[in-house]
Amino acid sequence: MADQHALRTDATGYPVSAALRWEEPPEGPVIVLLDQRRLPAEEAELVCTDVPALVEAIRTLAVRGAPLLGVAGAYGVALAAVRGFDVEESAAMLAHARPTAVNLALGVDRAVEAYRAALKAGAGARRAGEAALAAARAVHREDARASSLMARHGFDLLDELLPGGAHQILTHCNTGSLVSGGEGTAFGVARAVHEAGRLRRLWVDETRPLLQGARLTAYEAARAGMAYTVLTDNAAGSLFASGEVDAVLIGADRIAADGAVANKVGSYPLAVLARYHHVPFVVVAPCTTVDPGTEDATGIEVEQRPGHEVTEFPGPLPAAPEAGGAPVASVAVAPPGAQAYNPAFDITPPELVTAIVTENGVVSPVTKGGLAELCDRSRSG
Ligand code: MRU
Repeated sequence: MADQHALRTDATGYPVSAALRWEEPPEGPVIVLLDQRRLPAEEAELVCTDVPALVEAIRTLAVRGAPLLGVAGAYGVALAAVRGFDVEESAAMLAHARPTAVNLALGVDRAVEAYRAALKAGAGARRAGEAALAAARAVHREDARASSLMARHGFDLLDELLPGGAHQILTHCNTGSLVSGGEGTAFGVARAVHEAGRLRRLWVDETRPLLQGARLTAYEAARAGMAYTVLTDNAAGSLFASGEVDAVLIGADRIAADGAVANKVGSYPLAVLARYHHVPFVVVAPCTTVDPGTEDATGIEVEQRPGHEVTEFPGPLPAAPEAGGAPVASVAVAPPGAQAYNPAFDITPPELVTAIVTENGVVSPVTKGGLAELCDRSRSG
């Protein structure tokens, strides 16, 4: 299981990420995003030359997924610093662009702290900008490395839980290279199982309302050559009942100190189904997603998104704009004025989680002490 998880790096040794890169054209540095709003119909790039454009890209999910939000936040601070914008103000805007994934604020803090430390040590603005960029690159590289390690630990765990044969794995939302500096979290594990010839089928929840499963996970599964099937979220129950799910693999946006897992809405019902049907429910996330400052579920802010994401279906996409995206024509599916409940995430209590896989290893059963032991090690190191 070693080489297939090797990092993809460019000529300068930095990780190659499908979803985000830093570029330095003569007009000045930019952050280039693969615009995930437009997938799978179109692989269009979105070029951010300033922080408000990046914040808008984060809010509208052109760039998304917890680990990649950390990488984007760190590069955003570097962009502000290198281009001479107000770094503190930019950092605050970035850190609050979305509330649930703790990686975002963590990535922002890491770059802003490097910037401040350089200034404090007497560096000028240019050197301080370079320090912020170096920190962002470190966040990127570490996330890519964490992906590789999670894939290995997750593969070994599944091998233990489900010895022999090929397996049917159910996943929710999107957790591959579109959300990470590397191969991703849960999808990276599924990919390792596939590469070992042991994936019979990846069941892909469509993931209402923004369809990160149908649009993005199916896109990644097709590119990886996996056998996959998309299902509506509410079809999962009958799939469990007919014995066609051997394991559930999901990512996380924030894991509280006690092991409560915030992830895309619809994850918690899957955990309940998995427990009822005696199926392992495995969460794969880097230690940057574990927040020791959030004691338990009550401390996790769940993002509430606009109701129109539920009451309307997006229409056909207009041609890709130069930058910034464009409003998408939509079709109403509820009567005018209908109220909508649209939390982006839900929270699964630790007792329903079979195991949490991190880059430092696996915690199972999920306990506060076990999680702290795994992740405090990476913070102090
Ligand atoms: O709202 P999104 O698309 O940013 O939500 C993403 C998810 O919920 C992912 O499952 C989560 O970030 C884990 S990805 C490693």
